[in-house]
Formats: sequence, structure tokens, C-alpha cells
Amino acid sequence: MQHDKILILDFGSQVTQLIARRVREAHVYCEVHPCDVTSDWVREFAADGRLKGVILSGSHASVYEVDDRAPDAVFELGIPVLGICYGMQTMAQQLGGKVEGSNSREFGYAEVRAHGHTKLLEGIEDFSTPQGHGMLKVWMSHGDKVTQMPEGFKIMASTPSCPIAGMADEARRYYAVQFHPEVTHTVQGAAMLNRFVRDICGASPDWIMGDYIEEAVARIREQVGNEEVILGLSGGVDSSVAAALIHRAIGDQLTCVFVDHGLLRLNEGDMVMDMFEGKLHAKVVRVDASDLFLGELVGVSEPEQKRKIIGRLFVDVFKAEASKLKAANAGSQGASFLAQGTIYPDVIESGGAKSKKAVTIKSHHNVGGLPEQLGLKLLEPLRDLFKDEVRELGVALGLPREMVYRHPFPGPGLGVRILGEVKKEYADLLRRADAIFIEELRNWIDEATGKSWYDLTSQAFTVFLPVKSVGVMGDGRTYDYVVALRAVQTSDFMTADWAELPYGLLKKTSGRIINEVRGINRVTYDVSSKPPATIEWE
Ligand code: XMP
Repeated sequence: MQHDKILILDFGSQVTQLIARRVREAHVYCEVHPCDVTSDWVREFAADGRLKGVILSGSHASVYEVDDRAPDAVFELGIPVLGICYGMQTMAQQLGGKVEGSNSREFGYAEVRAHGHTKLLEGIEDFSTPQGHGMLKVWMSHGDKVTQMPEGFKIMASTPSCPIAGMADEARRYYAVQFHPEVTHTVQGAAMLNRFVRDICGASPDWIMGDYIEEAVARIREQVGNEEVILGLSGGVDSSVAAALIHRAIGDQLTCVFVDHGLLRLNEGDMVMDMFEGKLHAKVVRVDASDLFLGELVGVSEPEQKRKIIGRLFVDVFKAEASKLKAANAGSQGASFLAQGTIYPDVIESGGAKSKKAVTIKSHHNVGGLPEQLGLKLLEPLRDLFKDEVRELGVALGLPREMVYRHPFPGPGLGVRILGEVKKEYADLLRRADAIFIEELRNWIDEATGKSWYDLTSQAFTVFLPVKSVGVMGDGRTYDYVVALRAVQTSDFMTADWAELPYGLLKKTSGRIINEVRGINRVTYDVSSKPPATIEWE
């Protein structure tokens, strides 16, 4: 179960996680840690002999503004190091070179000339000049630049405005680039990272999801022994994959609790039960708590208050179920583990030492703090995995693709898609309208890519607006509700563009909703990007 590993030190760039994803795509295991870990920590991390290389990330800051440096141990272990952007600058400065500040920033597409046939770039190019120089199409984003290389380094890449756009000391296996190989705009970026981790570091490419199941199953069995586990199943990707994996490991020692808060999508509850109880034969307790949730939401229209009520009730219901299960199993100890679908980005974000002074735009519905309240130990079998790996794992575990590649759905469910006060009548109308929209997105195939518009969008849904508008149907006047369709494209959900859906698709969806869902007589399309709008309306 021991993998070779790459350490990625995070200096605070927005795209550090992408480095890790590219490394994992090369089937090499890696971990992201904050740049201010100590040298002792690094040595300890390397003590098992599995650490094959280090990557220093970029940063939004200048080496003159902050004093973040790589721990000295990084340069004492005798293993390869790759510096990216800020990582290159700090490497240069720490090893005796010079970095100069600049008022102007180079930002965006650049063509870089490769020099010196270094092992990192050898044979990797996008095109070559008539003089035979290999050229790379890259993404640059920097203000400062290295003006003098440390001893032992030679130029590896350059542009007219950044003569030292890459440098290498091949004897020590230190490489650095001013551009960002981790972003897809750098066309050969994945090839460069692949070259670094596999050929230069010599890390073995043994990080494969199909094999990972066996490893994870063994680990879960060892951790759980013959104790019992409960898991809150929401129907979302993470909790579903966690449930399937744990069930594979320990079968009936797992009990899933599925809380139906009355704010789920059309037929969602039945689908979850059918999959987990029907097909996987897992133990699932379905709790119909819709009256409780909808009752507590009467008269509440403020979004944050709604979110808090839903979050609190969820915890209450879950706790009550957990103690019921314990009572029903008199004689046995009841569950001693609570399983959660925490994934690696959550781990990186909560462990990040860089001060994240973000304001709370929306309080997220999650079950933080629940294990302590319940006196349970935590089981988080997905904590090493990125979302795309979780999906791959789900498919490998036999979950249907359609479930595993579903768009994200917020914890408070339709509660934040019904503006203002939530009523059952509204939720019922919204569920039907939304199901039509999703069905049309799945059916509408884009000719250029051969993909459905469901797959071409990152998230799509319908929002219920509690206002009435006048319409005409047949010979009669209608005075009914309005819905908004929302579809966005995004890679990280931090920023998002509204999707340019085909007019034909919008037309068909709107026609079907108005004809099939009595009570809605107007459909609008949301053309707001994030920022300044958010993806959900509340
Ligand atoms: P916003 O609306 O903040 O949404 O642009 C960004 C992403 O987060 C999802 N979202 C949530 N997910 N619990 C969740 O698990 C929540 O309370 C929650 N609120 C928003 C939203 O659907 C989008 O994918």
C-alpha cells in the first residue's frame, strides 16, 4: 500500500490544486501541503524513502512582499525539485540567484523558446521556428522575474521580455519555469509534469483507481475491525461513492441513513433506495422528515436563516436516527464510526496555513462537528481523492455513470432554489419543471462535440420565483408562477459563465414546462455570470 510520492508545497496560487491533479493524471501519488511546513516535517515526510520529488507552486504574491520560502530540507534531500512561477523565484533566491521586481505584469498567452535540450523539455514542443528552435505555447502570469541564475544553472527557456523563463541545474536535478505547466492553456504542460515526476523523479506510476479499491478496502477493514459504521447518504456523488466503497469493505457493518428533507429532486429518494438497497443490498434507513423540515421553514424567507434551519434539522434528525439504531441493536455497541464523503480539496482547504480571510457569502450546509457531538470516530475513505478520482472510483465500484457524473446538488436542496418562503406546493412545481429541463439537456446532443448539453454544462437547474405573471392559454387568461433556468460552465465553481445553450433547447424546454406543469406560465433564462452573481440564487 506504499506509493512513491511527490510533495507539492503550496505558496498560495489559485491553481496549486491543478498541479496535483496533473501529477495524479500521470498516475503518480502526490500530496499538497502549505509552504510553511518545517524542515523537520519535510524530513519526516521523506523518511519512508518514498518521496521522489518536490514541486514548489506559484503564488499571487511577490518574493518582495512576503517571506515565504521553501524549507531548507527541500534542497538537502538530494531529490529533484521543480519550481513554478513564484516557486522558480524563491528557488533562485534561496540558491543564490537574483530576482527583480517589476511594476508591469506579464499575464496570459506567451510563446517560449526552449533551450539547451534539458531532460525536462527534450522532445517536447508545440512547433519549431524556421531556425529550428523548439517553441512552447504557455500561460504566463508574473510580475517579478529571475535576472541572475544561481551557480550551476543554465537557461532552459526564454521569451523576449523574460530572458530567463526557465532554468535548470541538471546535476542536482533542479528545474524551474516562470510559466504555469499545470494549466491547460500551456499546451504541453501535462507532458512536462509527466516528464518531471516519472522520468526525472522516477516515481512509479502506480496510482490507479481500479487498483485503489483493493487498497482502500483493506484500509477500511483494518480501521473498522468488527465495529459498526453509519453514513449520511445524500444521493450526491461523494456520499454515494463513500457508501459503495465502505459497503464493499465491510458489508452489513455499514448502515446508511438517508434523510429525505422534502427538498430533493423528482424521484430522487426512490432512485437512491433502488440503487443502494435494491442493487447493492446495503442497509439503508430512509427517514421521511419532509413534514418536519417544511414545517420549520414556514414563514422564513431570509436565505441564511433558511440554510441554518435546514442544516440544524439535518443534524437533529441524523442524531435521532443514530440513537434509534443504537437502541434497536441492544446488545451490540451500535455504530462507533461516522463515515463522511470528505474529499481531498476539502482537506487541503481546511489545512491551508495561508490566511484565508474570505468573507462568508453563503453558509454551507455540512455536518461539521457532528462526529464529536455523537461521540463517534470519523471514517473518511475519500480524503485522498480529487473529485474526478472519486468519480472514476465510483464507476470502478459499479455505480451507474449517470449517478457518478451528476451535477452537484447543494445540501439544502431545493430550499435554496425556491426564493423566499419554501412551500410544498412550490417544491412540487419546481421538481417537475426541473426534471423536464434536465431531461432536455440530456437529450440535446451538440453536433460539434457529440456530447449532450448536460455533459457540456457543469451545473444546471431550475429556480422557482414566487411571483405571478399573466399569460394566455387557449382562450383563457392565466395568472401563474415563473421559473428561471440556470446553466453554467466552470472548472472550479469559484467563477462561472452562464452557458450559451442552443435556442432550440431553451425553446423546447420552455414549451414543455409551460404545457406540462400547470401552475407555471413563464420561463426565463438566467444570463448572469459568477461573479457578480452566484451560481445558486440564494
Ligand atoms: P454558489 O451559489 O455559492 O455555489 O456560487 C457554488 C457551488 O456550491 C454549491 N452549493 C452548496 N453545496 N452545500 C453544498 O454542499 C451548500 O449549502 C451549498 N450552497 C451552494 C452550488 O450548488 C454550486 O455548485
